[in-house]
Amino acid sequence: GITRHYNFDIKMQNVTRLCHTKSIVTVNGQFPGPRIVAREGDRVVVRVVNHVQNNITIHWHGVRQLRSGWADGPAYVTQCPIQTGQTYVYNFTIVGQRGTLFWHAHISWLRSTLYGPIVILPKRNVPYPFPKPDKEVPIIFGEWFNADTEAIINQALQTGAGPNVSDAYTFNGLPGPLYNCSAKDTFRLKVNPGKTYLLRLINAALNDELFFSIANHTLTVVDVDAIYVKPFTTKTLLIAPGQTTNVLLKTKPHLPNATFLMAARPYATGLGTFDNSTTAAILEYHHSNTSKNSMKKKLPILKPTLPLLNDTSFATKFTNKLRSLANAQFPANVPKTIDRHFFFTVGLGSNPCPQNQTCQGPNGTKFAASVNNVSFTLPTTALLQAHFFKQSKGVYTTDFPTNPLFKFNYTGTPPNNTLVSSGTKVVVLPFNTRVELVMQDTSILGAESHPLHLHGFNFFVVGQGFGNYDPKKDPAKFNLVDPVERNTVGVPSGGWVAIRFLADNPGVWFMHCHLEVHTSWGLKMAWIVLDGKLPHQKLPPPPSDLPQC
Ligand code: C2O
Repeated sequence: GITRHYNFDIKMQNVTRLCHTKSIVTVNGQFPGPRIVAREGDRVVVRVVNHVQNNITIHWHGVRQLRSGWADGPAYVTQCPIQTGQTYVYNFTIVGQRGTLFWHAHISWLRSTLYGPIVILPKRNVPYPFPKPDKEVPIIFGEWFNADTEAIINQALQTGAGPNVSDAYTFNGLPGPLYNCSAKDTFRLKVNPGKTYLLRLINAALNDELFFSIANHTLTVVDVDAIYVKPFTTKTLLIAPGQTTNVLLKTKPHLPNATFLMAARPYATGLGTFDNSTTAAILEYHHSNTSKNSMKKKLPILKPTLPLLNDTSFATKFTNKLRSLANAQFPANVPKTIDRHFFFTVGLGSNPCPQNQTCQGPNGTKFAASVNNVSFTLPTTALLQAHFFKQSKGVYTTDFPTNPLFKFNYTGTPPNNTLVSSGTKVVVLPFNTRVELVMQDTSILGAESHPLHLHGFNFFVVGQGFGNYDPKKDPAKFNLVDPVERNTVGVPSGGWVAIRFLADNPGVWFMHCHLEVHTSWGLKMAWIVLDGKLPHQKLPPPPSDLPQC
């Protein structure tokens, strides 16, 4: 592979959406941010210079970061933030991945405006395992807030209430024609008849899983989270924050007498306070020899139908269709046996209201979220540094509970006690541990799938179900043949998911819900994977420009 160099200058930029102008944090003044393009095997070197008042880190979401954990990016996990005026060079190699990933800020809620696509092409002269597309188009979904997102989350954390929802969802930063004062901010995809387009879909929204569909067109799913899958066709797809999906779009053989809307809106199982509006973009067939006549004719615009907000049956069917290729060229290396089994509950809970304060969360408490009833608190220095230099004292403890602290029936009446404890607790894994992790949603408060994202690894989704996970019956049904391999999986609301991965990447690896508000409330934890014995199984020392706290 070759080395690809990028400069990311973090700076403020005025951006107007929905007739509302605000100054946002951007990379190089672009919103959404620049695209990173690399081939499998290439090295990517990104020099990030912070010219703004906020502390910054950038995460290369889904990049495995094999023995390059110092470049992973989550603030206070693998690095201290890049402070105003400072520079940090992220340096990593793309190994064994092809498809689409994305980069985003990984501190507070700055990823609301700091995000962009990562396009990973196959090695030179290696074809795709599907028909070669005529053109490739990244489409990154986001959320636009008229207000400042840092203010929104800081206020929510103080009052204990749920944060304000966004004002629009966006296609490549544009809300589209279904919002007020937004028609001119519409993404238009111009296509020719009879061609194949590879759409690289990315959900960079902060807090919502999205359905996506194009009117009168069918999509073929070929890749998720930068791993090829067995192709299947669908009219609609579901994509959670942190997930990416490559689809083939075959355009109609003849110029159709219509234009088509592409649209996306949320999937959520319960009625919560979230924005359930629809973002749209236009699929426009290119009229090459446009006569005056056809220009005058107003073409009808066809709208897609999207599943209902709470269509869990669609969601379940869709996720069950995702399967690894699992062939000789692209094997699914699922751990067939395991060394460690973990059972984690994930969900929302609450913290008591401090004295002399009124809290606006559930029953006068503060919203919190937890894994095994522990709400994770970030340290004031980076976990990876503390681990590498053997200075864990006062930074983290290794007593993360391997089972939930409270036992209850996850489908019955929610328990009265929703209180969580807090701490910076981690799980330590010896090198090459074969891990099985079952994550059970508790649905105590709120009802949404939790898109759990694991840094540093892909995992195989070997099973999922509704109700209580049954350790006696469910493992027998696990798919160890062609389970989908990915980095973010939805723990279904009121259900569970089982994943397996090989802990072959030494470092400290964050795992969290990719609904940003849940992360803020503590639905996160970290794994420490120890060095192996051989030189190539060890994490190298940090780069000399690693930011200090
Ligand atoms: Cu896309 Cu830890 O994040």
